[in-house]
Amino acid sequence: MQKKKFPRTKLQWIWDNIAGLRVVFILAIVGTLFYNLLQLTVPFFSQMIVDRFLTGDNAAVHFQENKGEFFTLIAAMIGFTLLRALIVYIDCMAYEHVSQRALFRIRNYLFEKIERQDMHFYNEYRTGDLMTRLTGDLDAIRHNIAWVIRMIIECFALFTVVSIYFFSMNVKMALCIVAMAPVIFLIVFTFRKKVAPMHALLREKHAQMNTAAQENISGNRVVKAFSREDYEIEKFDQSNHDYAETNKKTRLVWVKFFPFVETCANLLPVILLWVGGTLLMKDEMTMGEYVAFSGLMWAIANPMRLLGNILNEFQRFSAAADKVMEIYYSEPSIVDAPDAIDHPDRFKGKVEFRHVSFQYEDSGLPVLEDISFTAAPGETIAIMGETGCGKTSLIQLIPRFYEPTKGQVLVDDMDVSKLKLQQLRTSIGMATQDVLLYSDTIDGNIAYGDLNISKENVLKVSRYAAADEFISKMPDGYNTIVGERGVGLSGGQKQRISLARALAIRPSILILDDTTSAVDMETEKQIQKSLSELDFPCTKIIIAQRISTTKTADHILILQHGKITEQGTHNELIRKGGYYADLVALQTGKEEMVHG
Ligand code: GTP
Ligand code: MG
Repeated sequence: MQKKKFPRTKLQWIWDNIAGLRVVFILAIVGTLFYNLLQLTVPFFSQMIVDRFLTGDNAAVHFQENKGEFFTLIAAMIGFTLLRALIVYIDCMAYEHVSQRALFRIRNYLFEKIERQDMHFYNEYRTGDLMTRLTGDLDAIRHNIAWVIRMIIECFALFTVVSIYFFSMNVKMALCIVAMAPVIFLIVFTFRKKVAPMHALLREKHAQMNTAAQENISGNRVVKAFSREDYEIEKFDQSNHDYAETNKKTRLVWVKFFPFVETCANLLPVILLWVGGTLLMKDEMTMGEYVAFSGLMWAIANPMRLLGNILNEFQRFSAAADKVMEIYYSEPSIVDAPDAIDHPDRFKGKVEFRHVSFQYEDSGLPVLEDISFTAAPGETIAIMGETGCGKTSLIQLIPRFYEPTKGQVLVDDMDVSKLKLQQLRTSIGMATQDVLLYSDTIDGNIAYGDLNISKENVLKVSRYAAADEFISKMPDGYNTIVGERGVGLSGGQKQRISLARALAIRPSILILDDTTSAVDMETEKQIQKSLSELDFPCTKIIIAQRISTTKTADHILILQHGKITEQGTHNELIRKGGYYADLVALQTGKEEMVHG
């Protein structure tokens, strides 16, 4: 897969996202440098104690005469150790604070980005994958700020400070020890090259596993209906297995390198013993210096041992950051035009299609071709056609969910691409083909588009949608919780709530996509009657399969394979004797009459 280019590097991006806390972060880094510098105090004082009071020709006399100094040195050692512990504590808190704030900020920003994306984005990304970006990937980024960066600085600081100290004590001994560094760097560099693609793959497997889980949980009814639990469990087991295997393989990469690093680290005391011993015998090094070297050897060996872990975590961060930054820097293609017309007033509701053609970006086939029609304010337009002919695609162009590939869609004689999206969309009441209700009260669901709607108006639109009756019969009425954890509703009941929700915003244009397909004829009639008696002006564009719904429309469009093949009123189309007339015959049982 081609790597996406971002305007900022990963570390610059983190820097951007700790705005407001940069001083704390820099202080934390200074703190890390400082507490690592303090590591030197114990060996430094030990060296002094050894050289002055424990070894040397007149150590015992010196001790008797300078007991005060001895105890001061011991007290200083303890004091500095306690001070170091305190700084480490505050420092960790600071990193944690900065990382949590960055996590909070990026997560909110990312959610907003996702929320404002266009339909194309939702076609491209799967829910499970997006959830992985919002959870696991973000945590890898937090971990990077709180731990990885700190560890890199700590290792680097320790190594540098101790190396300088070693050189200041004894150049020969220091050179022999530091000579190990290039070997370690070579090992680590090769390791990084091998492990980086593993982390990208691991991240992918994780997202696949999450997607499998998410799709199964939300689509569990289908699984149950087809009794496919065993199959799905096995499929998930496979995803889980893939993930675990990739995880193991990633870990094993380091296992291959670890013995080399460990050998280098373990060689250090041997070098000290050998070179240090020789230097001691030659009197080129004091016993105190030897003790200091020995006491600080871990400060060279530990970073070596830790490097693998740090690099692993850094690569995990890198793979996660690629995914998060992809969303972070993504821009919806459908946005307000720079010269968008401000139209705060209510739209009259004229809808016009002028030679509109449309094709989905990810598909090679045109869905709509040369569609032209006009709906005058207040008119009702019915769209009919067999399944897959492009009805839903057509109506999605009105609120500008997608852009036409050719031609223009106009509302009140203004091209929708020139209108402000928010003003356009809040003027359109839409009941989509797949009804989605939130886990909220029925009342909350109906008021979704207009939270300031009064109780009476909720009742009124529910009556328009022929929903009041069944809602009132529910145990908690309008306060009944629906959706995931609430009581279940029938398909027709959901459609009616969705219609009430669309009406609640008193739209200038009402779009119904098969909204009454699941309600009985009687209820449908009632809905139709109310729709013709709404107390606000409204153009209605109704997709329907039933003649009973469409026959009163001012204008009927017949869509076949993305083209309008017939249009006119009910009577005109019957006279025409085409697709519509066939449909009428079929639905009223007069088929023989039409075909003779
Ligand atoms: P019914 O709702 O079944 O009555 O069909 P419809 O008339 O509403 O058809 P729709 O507009 O949903 O689809 C028209 C064509 O576009 C079909 O061939 C679909 O396969 C295709 N299509 C629909 N949605 C998408 C999409 O998001 N991406 C792509 N690439 N194709 C789509
Ligand atoms: Mg449809």
